[in-house]
Amino acid sequence: MARTRPGRVGILTGGGDCPGLNAVIRAATRTAFNMGWEVYGIEDGFDGLLTRNVRRLSRRDVRGILQLGGTILGTTNRRNPFVYPVSRKGAIVETDRSAEVVRNFRALGLHALIAIGGDGTLGIAERLFRKGIPIVGVPKTIDNDIPATLITFGFDTAVSTATDALDRLHTTAEAHKRVMVVEVMGRYTGWIALHCGVAGGADVILLPEIPFDVDKVCDTIRARERVGREFSIVVVAEGAVPVHGRMMTQGPKEAGREVRLGGIAEWLAAEIASGCGGKETRSLVLGHLQRGGPPTSFDRLLGTRFGSAAMRMVGEKKFGAMVALDPPRVLAVPLRVAVGKGKLKRVPLGSDVIRSARDMGIGFGD
Ligand code: F6P
Repeated sequence: MARTRPGRVGILTGGGDCPGLNAVIRAATRTAFNMGWEVYGIEDGFDGLLTRNVRRLSRRDVRGILQLGGTILGTTNRRNPFVYPVSRKGAIVETDRSAEVVRNFRALGLHALIAIGGDGTLGIAERLFRKGIPIVGVPKTIDNDIPATLITFGFDTAVSTATDALDRLHTTAEAHKRVMVVEVMGRYTGWIALHCGVAGGADVILLPEIPFDVDKVCDTIRARERVGREFSIVVVAEGAVPVHGRMMTQGPKEAGREVRLGGIAEWLAAEIASGCGGKETRSLVLGHLQRGGPPTSFDRLLGTRFGSAAMRMVGEKKFGAMVALDPPRVLAVPLRVAVGKGKLKRVPLGSDVIRSARDMGIGFGD
């Protein structure tokens, strides 16, 4: 396809941060420079297009950032321009400010936009594309829950961090003959829990995709005790749900953002203690540790491939699409197939990873 010169390309990061964002920014920017284009960094996600907080990126700006966590552009998961929280007469009202985003995009003289983010950001990108912004998406999230791409960058780093935590918990759990219940992120999917649980030798893994029964969890723990293994490691995804219970959330949903999940580990530790005859049990929440720190080499490579491919897509005018990993290729897929209600990529129950985990004797509480 013939390449055109779009001139000025904007780039932003939206939603929760995740390791590898800077690798994408660096790759996209350097690819643009190779093509003779200018890149404008938009600060704090789509907010930067409401406030026109935009700066031209130089080679110096993207130097030495490949291995850095976070994002040099800043981000937010609080303000969706289509349901922007605006304070009116003391109340917070969700207001559609998307027309301002489109206006400012044009006023800044931008020709294309690269939006790096998870389902929320890519959903906004898809709607802005329909409003006329030539946009390319890059799927990001530690949760790995975006369809059409085998993996999102950030996931591998989160799994590595969580696996490292499980290694450390093993020694203290064994020394004290305790059950350790570890809550990991992942929102409504169990990718992080499953992968770190298997890689970190967990005894029980609880996923949103498989409602669990506390009695079954206790059965696994007691079965281990009968063979002399008096400690157990339970990995629970923040979105895991007991068979007769509900997903645990933190506080009410705030305007313009997703409800916060959390609290299942503490609750489950108490249930295990009483269900397993007073077994000493401790819980911990890994939380944002999973999002921090340097990306793994896998995420640096994937971020670089995604950033570079996204800028090539701008050159080829493949707008309204996102980059996706379909090994061995990185492809362009329409944003509409990847985002929208009910479009989460869940852990397939018949997956080889689940089967292998069951073969290892890992319990899923079912
Ligand atoms: O989507 C990434 C993620 O880290 C989820 O795993 C988690 O539920 C959520 O973001 C936490 O969001 P916040 O940073 O707003 O607490």
